[in-house]
Amino acid sequence: MAVLIPVAGGKGGVGKSVLSLNLAVTLAQQCKKTILVDLDLGGANLHTLLGLKNNQAGIGTFITKQETDFSNLLQATGIPNLQFIAGDCLYPGVANMDFFTKCKILRNIQALDADYIILDLGAGSTYNIVDFFITTNDGIIVVTPELTSILNAYSFLKTTVFRLLYRTFPSKSPERQILQNSVLQRMEGKEYSFEQILSVIGATFPESAELALNQLKSFKPRIIMNMGRQGDDAVLGNRLLTLSRNKLSINPEVIGFVPYDQNIGISIARRQPLCLLNPGSAFSQALPAVVKRIEAASDHTDMRLEEALENFEEIIKSYYEHQERDR
Ligand SMILES: Nc1ncnc2c1ncn2[C@@H]1O[C@H](COP(=O)(O)OP(=O)(O)OP(=O)(O)O)[C@@H](O)[C@H]1O
Ligand SMILES: [Mg+2]
Repeated sequence: MAVLIPVAGGKGGVGKSVLSLNLAVTLAQQCKKTILVDLDLGGANLHTLLGLKNNQAGIGTFITKQETDFSNLLQATGIPNLQFIAGDCLYPGVANMDFFTKCKILRNIQALDADYIILDLGAGSTYNIVDFFITTNDGIIVVTPELTSILNAYSFLKTTVFRLLYRTFPSKSPERQILQNSVLQRMEGKEYSFEQILSVIGATFPESAELALNQLKSFKPRIIMNMGRQGDDAVLGNRLLTLSRNKLSINPEVIGFVPYDQNIGISIARRQPLCLLNPGSAFSQALPAVVKRIEAASDHTDMRLEEALENFEEIIKSYYEHQERDR
């Protein structure tokens, strides 16, 4: 079965699409059969970054039932091992799909024949984006070293954890009610961590609380910092990790640091992925380390042995050490 890699970020313009595209190309270059799916409904633009015309059937065509065979949406990209499914540029308004349609799209994506399927999810924390994100336990969150990006990523994770726990409890259950009430109290200024909320639930419903706690433990989103410029990047990144641990009771993993690179502008203007156009650029050079971590995780290789770096300081330090060695 293919490994699904949803890519989200909360904030717009942080580089979700550029990274989804270049990570997909890097995987394809390593002979992994890869499919890139534009699920940024309402803002689909991956076809442009790939230099493809926007007159092909895509997710929008499927939602409007003009195409019922999902596999017919697959397009060749001209890049060996990489196929593409376009978004909805021909059909505005399909982003607000119903629950049934969302499940149908997911089932069809999961049935595609590939090693890796990368989903570019677009900005925001709407339930559709969140639900696509939690199809796996270890989706990717893209952040930039800016406070607004870190806070939007935190909000995205908060909504995601809420949704994850909500889904764990049965419909109309008292557990759901307690969870909802606690979140409302949060809004009134009382900041309970999700672990505290679960211990309240556990006092009356110990089995439900344990199930939910296990869900939280296995949820391990992966973070890539994009447009890095060193400086205080690590301080901001670590703030997201601390907030996630203390308030959300989850432990995200940092899997990459990708520098700011002005060559990206040229690659977009030429409609060619930067890792093909300029493999020697700082941006392209940072990708193999990220892909290595993605591959190791999906092989179930124990990342703790040498590659897993616990925080942003370590990952940024290792990025610059690597650059020094290559000089
Ligand atoms: N590493 C980088 N270095 C320099 N510029 C970058 C980098 N990554 C992305 N950009 C720039 O940031 C802009 C936004 O990137 P991109 O479209 O991938 O973001 P996004 O998160 O997908 O945005 P949206 O939320 O609108 O879908 C691009 O125009 C690109 O030029
Ligand atoms: Mg985008």
